[in-house]
Amino acid sequence: MSHATHTFPKNFKWGAATAAHQVEGGAADSDWAAWEKLPNKIKENGSAAVACDWWNGQRWREDFDRAANDGQTTHRLGVDWSRIEPRLAIWDEDALDHYREMIKGLRDRGLEPMVTLHHFTNPLWLAERGGWENPDAVIYFERFVRKVVNALKDHVDLWCTLNEINIFAYQSYMDGVWPPEKKDTATCFKVIRQMLLAHAAAYRAIHEIQPTARVGIAHHIQLIDPHRADFAPDNWIANFQTRVFNESIPHALHTGHLHFPIGKWNEHLPELANTMDYVGINYYSRRVAAFDLSAAATLFGRTFHEPEAEMDHVNLNELYPSGLHRVIKWADRFKKPIYITENGWGDADESRRTRAMLLHLRNLWSAVNNNFPVRGYYYWSLVDNFEWERGWVQRFGLYELDLTTQERTPRSVAKLYAEVCKTNTLTSEMVERYAPEMTPTMFPG
Ligand code: FCB
Repeated sequence: MSHATHTFPKNFKWGAATAAHQVEGGAADSDWAAWEKLPNKIKENGSAAVACDWWNGQRWREDFDRAANDGQTTHRLGVDWSRIEPRLAIWDEDALDHYREMIKGLRDRGLEPMVTLHHFTNPLWLAERGGWENPDAVIYFERFVRKVVNALKDHVDLWCTLNEINIFAYQSYMDGVWPPEKKDTATCFKVIRQMLLAHAAAYRAIHEIQPTARVGIAHHIQLIDPHRADFAPDNWIANFQTRVFNESIPHALHTGHLHFPIGKWNEHLPELANTMDYVGINYYSRRVAAFDLSAAATLFGRTFHEPEAEMDHVNLNELYPSGLHRVIKWADRFKKPIYITENGWGDADESRRTRAMLLHLRNLWSAVNNNFPVRGYYYWSLVDNFEWERGWVQRFGLYELDLTTQERTPRSVAKLYAEVCKTNTLTSEMVERYAPEMTPTMFPG
């Protein structure tokens, strides 16, 4: 058997990612806190009423202890706008103090914070005023960002303005499965445009307050491949969907040119140009696209998972780890530092969870080893948390959460990830211990 060691660069940052609404519990003033109480919105009527109890029960302390003890050196966490500005222009200084304490708690434990300023949830007052369709949302967001950055700037200089603009807009305004449950393509693109403007405004505001800040977004990429590689229409549909879903957003923030190859949307917005100090990528999966004459509504394209794809237990994500290398290679076109701001695997099958981690880390290493400038990796997630419309039926935590007792139990991946973080390596010996069946394919030597 070979004895191989995949070494990561010195100073590579290892961490986990969380989002305010998914872990905190006790939110009262956001659109999601209200919406999830309605019947049949969330699988098995789950809710984030308590979640991981980071807010009222202060259990962030024990979870940050776990992250630090496991050798992590960074943590991506979110702030909830609706706590900080529960009513329009009314600020809750106690909430800001709470976040300051949490972030100091990270620093005290040797964890560098990356702070997400918007991760899907909105204050109810904004939702009641038209949410992100309201042109003033850009102004409101910039004002909120200034407030947060002024409050936290002594402890944070790595900022993520908006999480997954594409997922937020599609789920909320195209597929209508999240609040405000709209199904309208034009509105969806209008919201994306507004969020891009909000990002650009926030980018400038943050740099004005804190010139040394590093500011970016966490951008979701789901790879889209042609169903039939040798069939030109499938290639055309896959390229088209890739441009719309995966590429248009970061390209707009890089070039200032917003182009959705749909209708006549082709706009020059110079204020967007060059507003990413780093490229943040959330990567989980891929799907395939096929030309389909019966799918007129989706421009004769259909996307799906191949029948032979290996899926998680809720059929959401295909296990496609080489995609991580591909998205990193793709992101290199922007010539900026890259962070994998989310990557993880939620599954009832623990052995597949372990396999998924090993294979993704192998691909991360191979990309780093090709000198793509990846600076850090955030596993989604530290502890099981509220998975949006899927509630608690899909769990991504390194630590398993018992919702009744709030007890945390390390999964096998928690131990494996801790070894990787502590040694800054992935070794054949780890594979042999955690998933021996994979040794022959991962380390055939
Ligand atoms: C991403 C979200 C994150 C989490 C993971 C599983 O799309 O950013 O909040 O739900 O998926």
